[in-house]
Order: sequence, then structure tokens, then C-alpha cells
Amino acid sequence: MKYLSTLSLLLAGLGTTLVRAYDECKACNVVYVEGDEKWGVENNDWCIIPSKCDNGEKECFAYPLYNCCKGCDVIEESDEGKWGIENGYWCGIKDSCFKTDEPVEEPVVGNDYVLKDGWYTIKNPNSNKYLQVSYGRGGDAVNVVIGSNPQKWKLENVGDGYVTLLTMYGDYMLDVAAGDSKDGANIQIYSAYGGDAQQFAIIPTSNGNTYVIGSKVSNGEKVLDIEKASTSEGSNVLQWVNGEKANQTWIFESVSAPSEEEVNPPKSSSNFQYEAYMQYRDAPGNYLNSCPQAGRIIKESYNGINGGNSLNVYLPYGYDKNKQYNIFYLMHGGGENENTIFSRDVNLQPIIDNLIMNGELEPLIIVTPTFNKCEARTFYREFRESVIPFVEGKYSTYAKSTSANDIKASRMHRAFGGFSMGSASTWAVLVNCIDIVGYFMPLSGDNWEADGGYGKAKSVADAINRAGFKKDEFYIFAATGSEDIAYPNMNPQMDEMKKMDPFVYTSDFSKGNFYYLVAPGKTHWWGYVKHYIYDALPSFFHEKQD
Ligand SMILES: *[C@@H]1O[C@H](CO)[C@@H](O)[C@H](O)[C@H]1NC(C)=O
Repeated sequence: MKYLSTLSLLLAGLGTTLVRAYDECKACNVVYVEGDEKWGVENNDWCIIPSKCDNGEKECFAYPLYNCCKGCDVIEESDEGKWGIENGYWCGIKDSCFKTDEPVEEPVVGNDYVLKDGWYTIKNPNSNKYLQVSYGRGGDAVNVVIGSNPQKWKLENVGDGYVTLLTMYGDYMLDVAAGDSKDGANIQIYSAYGGDAQQFAIIPTSNGNTYVIGSKVSNGEKVLDIEKASTSEGSNVLQWVNGEKANQTWIFESVSAPSEEEVNPPKSSSNFQYEAYMQYRDAPGNYLNSCPQAGRIIKESYNGINGGNSLNVYLPYGYDKNKQYNIFYLMHGGGENENTIFSRDVNLQPIIDNLIMNGELEPLIIVTPTFNKCEARTFYREFRESVIPFVEGKYSTYAKSTSANDIKASRMHRAFGGFSMGSASTWAVLVNCIDIVGYFMPLSGDNWEADGGYGKAKSVADAINRAGFKKDEFYIFAATGSEDIAYPNMNPQMDEMKKMDPFVYTSDFSKGNFYYLVAPGKTHWWGYVKHYIYDALPSFFHEKQD
């Protein structure tokens, strides 16, 4: 088979790496069998096929080396049997496809419609939370989560027992990401077109008035499911095989059409809603266009401990020197300079402008300094001794003055982040300047202050503990892409931090202090990294703000 020829190349490395602990696969695509263990490949790494996949056994000749096909479409025939392709993988055609005396399996959905067309709220009784669009905003691939806001969905029966569910935020429908039929496919909203990925079956459960919501792409077999059976605000919703579990059942309540006030509630950053397991999402397309309420970028020069140097200061639209602003220092990567981040190439500014204009981010000051007069790792000295006094002496932040005490007192209004070598700067600032910075955003780069995943994690933990800060007095939002060259370097440190005190892993900073966002398929490039900032920055500056 075509797949096998590439497989044998992959297998060359497997024997030597078998001692590592592997995760369970999300899907059931077996690519290799060794003894009793079945292996798959996901995210470029080996994973163990979970036992739940075993029910495919003996339904076709090809199992377990390959899955059995769901359908009966034969693509190719070999000596062993007949083959199909599903989800891009070869699969064996089930024996049952060739038996004419057996009745064809009934689809799980019927023809009658279960609920009338109209507006509904959709509540999961276990968590007492509603199915909702993240941040109450329309857009392609905006995530769907649970939360306490009773958002409304417009249900329309479209035939064959399926419905579409339109959001109250414009022409977007509930949608299975990439129309994937697999367990774990994310549930999102997407521009309405009513295709298979946007059709769902409302299936009554054995328990009277609750329903499961099956996706058409899985023939109704996979249903909307709250990840990790979490009940907290902002928990992700994805698709998982139907078990009528507590995290899969929903109550539909018929409601009036949403009012203008419900669709566009008055914006306020104080009612910020965290998500517990934030997923990567792009900034909406129009956030890349220049914004009618644009901030200003001012180039500044100063004399620092490493000599004369420059930096850029972003002042938000309507900056008022009589108000106080949060401040985010954002460092460039290797071979770049203080102008890179606000250059046309990276074009971060419209994302920030639009976030602020739409009330998703409180107006803040962003400073792009450079480590080019020293090194990424030693910049923290210039930061403490030269950059902060210069910038915060001139612009209005929460620092009452630039005295050491006032800079410390305002640390929860100060963030530091950076990309690549700038991420190394960020970890160094964390290790050496935690007394003056409360929020950290390392992007695509690991901690260079120590060696090995454990050592790197420990050096961060030690710095925090040494300084005596509690779990709710620092926040770290790290991110990278799954195809980023930094990904394999970051993972061991991130894995150790997830297990280590004082880190508490979640993107809900009202409950924890550390998160690691991995963007599927993204490489080492500002063109992606600016979207990580879009994802992460709105979570900053809500905790310990008094
Ligand atoms: C939903 O809850 C069940 C337990 O009731 C759990 O086994 C399952 O993993 C949960 N779904 C996901 C995707 O985490």
C-alpha cells in the first residue's frame, strides 16, 4: 500500500524510542502493531491506540493494522481484501458490506423532526451552563464553549432528521472543525453554509427531555461533549462518541428571538470570561485591517546601562496622561530589532487596536525594546535599570513613581513577553525580575537559564519561591505552534511545569497561573505568533489588580 512505504521510514526510529511514556491516541488509526500494543501517529509523534478502539476487531480482514471502514466504498482490491479510504487513511471494507442477507444498518437518526424551528437556549444540566460562542462574538472558527450566558441559537430543520443551529452573532453556524468525523474534533462556529459539518441530529436520550446533539459528519454517532467533563466557565466543547454521558446531554428551552441589547451588550472589560482549556484561534480577518481607532507608535531613545538605545512605545487610542495604563514589554527574536514587531511585516498593531476598540482588551501601553546592545538573556538588567525608569517616568502606568518600591508595587500591571530569543529574554526576566513583573508571555522559546526539561522548569519555580510569591501572584501564558522549531524544546519544560509546584495549569487565571497553548500546524513565524498574542493578551491584567 502507498501508506506503508512511508511508514517503514517512520518505523526505523521507533524501536529505540519505545522506552518513553506515550500518550493515548485521539483517533483509532493503527499504523503499527508490536506484540499486544497498537501504535498510531499523531502530531508527528507515536501514540498508543486506546482500548476503546478495539470494537473494530474482526469486522474486517485489515484490523488491527488498519481500521475497518465505516462505509462500503471500495477504492482498491488486494490479495488480502477490499480497501477504502476514510479521513485520508486506508481502511478495510467490513465483511458485512458483502453480505446481502443482512439488513443494512439503520442510521441512528430518524426522519421526524424532534424540535420545531425557532430560537432556543441549549443548557447542559450537569454543569448548569449554556452552549455559547466564546466571548459572544461571531467569526470563522470562533470557539464554542459552555458558560453562564444563556446565548440563543436559531434551530432550523433541514431534512433527514438534521438541523442547523445559527448563532445570535450574525451569519455563523455551529460547525464541526474541518468536517472531521473523529473523536476530539473541535466544535466551533463558521460562516453559515448549511453543509454536512453544520448539520446536527437532536437525539432524545433515555431520560425524557434531555437530548444529545449528534454531528452529521459522524452519522450522528459522535455528539457534542464537554471536554474532560469539566463544569467550569469557558470549558471547551468538542465531538465525542455518544454515551449519553452527563457531559453530553442538553436541555433545549424555546425562547424569544434575541434583542439588539442581548446581541450587543454594553462592553466592559470587568466581566472578562476566561476559558479553562483555551484552544488556538486566529484573530478575526478584519482585525488585520487598520482600525478607525488606531493607537500611536512613538520611537524613543534613551541612554541605558549598555549605552544609547532605542525602543518603540504604543500608546492606545485616546491615551490620556491623567489615567493609569497596564504596560506590556514585548521582545523581538534573533536577527530582529525594536522596530520589527510594529513593522508592516508583522503588523501587530491593528490586532491590538481592534481588541481595544471592541472592548476585549483594556487600553494598555506596549513597549518594544531591543536586546541588541547586550544579549537576550542579559537584557533583564537593562530592562530593570534603564528601560522601566525611562518609559514609566515618561508615560502613565500604575507605577506612582520610578522608585524601586513603586515599580514593585505596580508589578501586577506589568507584563513581559517575547518571541524566540525574545522568549529566552522573557524567561530570564521571570527568573531575575519576578519582583517587578506579574504577567509573562514566552512565545516559541524555552528557558535558557538551566538545562533539561526538569532543570528549566525548576529554575522558574525556584525563582518564584525564592521571591516568596504565592500562586495567585504571577501568571504565565506560553504558546507555540506544533510545527514550530521551538516546540520540541519547549515541551519537556512545559510538561515538567505542569506537574510542578507552584504552577497550576489552566487558561482560567482565576483558578490557576500557567498555560501552554499549542497552535496546530503553525511554524516559527511572527505571522502566526501575533495571533498567539491575540489569544493570550486579553487574559492578562485581571487578577490582583487592586
Ligand atoms: C465526557 O465525560 C466522560 C465521563 O462521563 C469522560 O469519559 C469523557 O472523556 C468526557 N469527554 C471528554 C472529551 O473529555
